Order: sequence, then structure tokens, then C-alpha cells
Amino acid sequence: MTATPFWIAGKPVTSGETAVVHHPFDGGVAGAHHVPSTSDVEQAVRAAADAAEETAALPAHVRAGALDHVSRTLESRAGELANLITAESGKPLKWARGEVARGVSTFRWAAEEARRFSGELQRLDTDPGGTGRMALVRRVPRGPVLGITPFNFPLNLVAHKVAPALAVGAPIVLKPAPATPLTALALGEVLAETDLPAGSWSVLPTGNDVAAALVADPRLPVVSFTGSGPVGWGIRESVPRKHVALELGGNAAVLVCPDWTDLDFAAQRIATFSMYQGGQSCIAVQRVYAHAALFDELVDRITAHVAELSTGDPRAETTNVGPLINVAAAERVERWVGAAVEAGATLRHGGTREGSTVAPTVLTDVPESAQAMAEEVFGPVVCVNRVDSVTDGFARVNASRYGLQAGVFTRDLNTAFDASAKLAVGGVVIGDVPSFRADQMPYGGVKDSGIGREGPAAAMEDFTEPRLTILTGLSL
Ligand code: SIN
Repeated sequence: MTATPFWIAGKPVTSGETAVVHHPFDGGVAGAHHVPSTSDVEQAVRAAADAAEETAALPAHVRAGALDHVSRTLESRAGELANLITAESGKPLKWARGEVARGVSTFRWAAEEARRFSGELQRLDTDPGGTGRMALVRRVPRGPVLGITPFNFPLNLVAHKVAPALAVGAPIVLKPAPATPLTALALGEVLAETDLPAGSWSVLPTGNDVAAALVADPRLPVVSFTGSGPVGWGIRESVPRKHVALELGGNAAVLVCPDWTDLDFAAQRIATFSMYQGGQSCIAVQRVYAHAALFDELVDRITAHVAELSTGDPRAETTNVGPLINVAAAERVERWVGAAVEAGATLRHGGTREGSTVAPTVLTDVPESAQAMAEEVFGPVVCVNRVDSVTDGFARVNASRYGLQAGVFTRDLNTAFDASAKLAVGGVVIGDVPSFRADQMPYGGVKDSGIGREGPAAAMEDFTEPRLTILTGLSL
């Protein structure tokens, strides 16, 4: 099998060492790639630092044109990329196709934002000392970005680092997840077709051990990380002077309010979006708080919809729920389900494991302190508990150390506005599950879910700082 090269400063590079990527479903070979050496990593960082000035000076039409090219090419290679995502991540094909479509959108949005990213004028004559003065506030790149991405969206979460960095004219060094580097390397092929400065991007499929040196490197002043909480907060604490953005996941909750009448719709959405991608999404439904008046019927309906979901080979069109990223992850989820049941939860469905595949699992009456409730389960498990009122429901949603997104099934306008005001999360979805992200949205969380927001416009703001030009002697 030919090993895929990695990318340094826009050029494909091979090395003495290769690594094999395994299919999470059956351990088969998904592909192989060359592994950068320490000196390759150094070259990529140096190239990013050297290219910073040239990249920042690129006209908007060049940045936008390159991003548009990436968007169009991803679309034209959609089938091949979806297969690659499925092969290396185990994500069922239908979700992989959805991810490619989102990657197309993320790059397209970044191109559009690059065209309108203009800064602002601020008048300064609001006090006598500023008479005749005006500030031109432009945003300039903070410097080269280190992007570190997880395995659960091998294309689109990479896009959310690469696209906004290039949109503002900041070089990026990307370190994809060791389990899923092949899609990021394929993205490199597309970036190489653009006329961006060579040093403006590198893709380094290195082990996590190399990440610490990259994080510490002063030539990469911005770190944008998506992944686990301990790693993310560890990064932030290790480089307090850097600009660090963290998207760290959560245990997303749904509240089903007493006014909600279409219980089957709520149940079907909860079943689908607690189990999609094997629950390996930061906004997969994990906790459901159902009003006592509708709890029994809702649980029956959720269980019935979950029972309809087929597990199996993610390459099959009919598979709804594929494997977890590896057997160790599946074993951990199985343990957490067992521990919840031991602590008093009722197992309504699932609870079994075969290799890396965990059966879609429904638990009810789960102690709030069980890991399956309190921690990020990142597996196909949904916990349904009863609440006595909307106020009780809000309190239970908020009694988590995470706060990424929440869903509230209500048609009551006051409840909707209350939810928006009172839930401590980055985003509230009214009338549906929290597992929704349009890629232009500002997306991110509060509390242990992270800091900063993604989405091209939000990340472009984040990757830049204001630069003032104060004009004097003006007749205003
Ligand atoms: C995530 O799981 O971190 C992102 C979810 C999404 O982009 O849909």
C-alpha cells in the first residue's frame, strides 16, 4: 500500500517512517501515511513564521479565491471524501456525506467573510480631547495558528481551523487527530492547487506527543484546539500568554416541556441525535429532562425509535449507528452504562457491546452523579430523567460543569426566551434537539465546554486583533 505524504509549506513530503490507519469497525486497513520527523515539524513551523507577513498582505480576492476553490473542489470530490471519512473514523456513510457538504459550506462561508472583513471607523470626537480625530480600526492576524483537531469530524472540524485562518491571512500548521489524518491530508491536495503562499499551510500527522512542543512554540501565537477537556485546559494553562481557543464538548441536554404536544417528533429527534455518529459529537443528546406528565409516553416512544436504529458496518447504506473510534472507547462506554445501572438507573434498551460497536442504549432514572450523566459519554447512550416543572428542568440542565448547547421542546414564547436567558450554554435550540450546527453560526461553549467561538466569522475575529490608525485634524 502506498503511504500518503504529509504537507510542509504547501509541498508533499515523505519520510522514513509510516503509520497505518485502521478502520474502527473491523480493524482493517483504511490507509497509511508518512510521519513527520522532528526536523519536518521544525521546517513547517519555520515556514509558517516566515510566511506570516506575505500571507497577511494577500489581497482579499486572493484569499477568497483560494477558499472558493477549496469549497468547489471538495464538492466535486464529495463521494471519495465521504468514503475516506467513513474508512478512517467509522462514521456511517450518510453522516460522512453530510460532513463533506458542511465542509463545502464552511470554506464557502470563509471565502465570503474574507471579502467583507473590513474593520470599522470609530469617531473619537465624543470628548473635547478627541476633537478632529477618528480611528480606523482594522483587524490584523495575531500570527500563525496552530490548529489541533479531533477524530469525530475529520474534514469539517479541520475546515473550521484552516478556512478562517487563511481567510484573515494567517498561516496555519494543522495537527489532525492521529486516528483520522487521511482526510486532512486529502484536503492538503486541494490546498496545494491554490496560489496561497507555500508557507501559509502545513498538515502534520504527528502523534500527540509532538503537540506539546508545537503548543509551546512561540512562533505559533494562536492555538485553536478541539478535543477533550483535560487536554484543552492543559494547553491553556501551559501557554497563558498565547491566544487559545478551546472547543471541548459537553453532555448536551434536552428539556421536554409540558406544553409540547408532538411527543413522537421529540422522541424521534432525541433517538436519532443521541445515536448519530455513535454519539461521538459534542452536541449529541446525552441528557433528556422530560416533564413528569409526559415522561412515560416519551420514554416508550424514544425506546421504540432507538430500537429501529440498525448497527453495523458504517460502509453499508443501511447502517444508522457505526462503531466508536476504537475498542477502548467502546469498553469505557460499556463500563459507564454498567456503573449507571449499578447506581440505580433502569436499562430500557441496549447496554451491550460487540468489539468497537456499542448497542444504542436508553437509560432512565439515572443518578445525576453517574458518569453517563455527568461526564461527556461520547457514545450511543441517552439518559432520560423526570422533572417536575420547567424551572426544575432549567436547574437540572444547568447543574452540569459543561455548557455547549441545549434543546428545549416548547412552543411557548416566554419559555423560549426564559431558556435563552437562563440556560448557561453557548446556544439554545427551541423546538428541537441541541445537535444542530449551521457552519456560519458562532459555535462554542461556556464553563468546561471551552472558550471562544468557531464559525468562520467568529474565528476570524478570534484569530485577529484590532489595529488602530488614528486620523487627526479632520473636519468631521
Ligand atoms: C463537535 O462535535 O465538536 C462539533 C459538532 C458539529 O460540528 O456538528
